Amino acid sequence: RYEKIWLIFGIAMLVVFLAVLGIGTFARGAEPPGGHRHAVDPETVDQSAPFNDPGLKKIGDNEYEATMLAFAFGYSPEKMEIPVGATVHFNITSKDVVHGFQIPGTNVNMMVVPGEINHLTYKFTKAGEFLVLCNEYCGVAHEMMQTRIIVK
Ligand code: CUA
Repeated sequence: RYEKIWLIFGIAMLVVFLAVLGIGTFARGAEPPGGHRHAVDPETVDQSAPFNDPGLKKIGDNEYEATMLAFAFGYSPEKMEIPVGATVHFNITSKDVVHGFQIPGTNVNMMVVPGEINHLTYKFTKAGEFLVLCNEYCGVAHEMMQTRIIVK
C-alpha cells in the first residue's frame, strides 16, 4: 500500500521534472520579446552566404545592399564605390568583438555586435570619399580600423 503511494509519487515527480526540462528547452529556443533577432555564429559567419562574399549588390534603382564584416582590425570589403544618390542598406556583423560603424559627417553610427546582424540604411546624396571608422575600442589597432566608401 505505502509502496504503491511512493511509486505514484515518484512517477509524478519524474513527470514534473521532464515537463520543467521541456519548458526550459522551449524557452531557450523561443525569440526574445521586442522583435526578431538575427542570431549568427561569429566563428563561422564568414563561411556561408551572404557573409562569405562581402560587398555591394544592386537591388534596385540606385539602391544597394552592402554586406560587410567587421573584425580586428578592419572591415571587409576594404573599399566600395557607389553612384551619387545611392541608397545603401548596410548589413554587417562582427567576427570577434564589438566594433563600431561610424561615417563622420553623416548621422551613420551603429554598434557591430558579434552574433548579430546589424542593419542601417543611408542615402549618399553628396559625392566624395567617406571614411567608415570604428568607434568602439576593440584592441591595440582600434585606431587603424577603417574602410572607405567612394561616392561619385
Ligand atoms: Cu574595431 Cu575599434
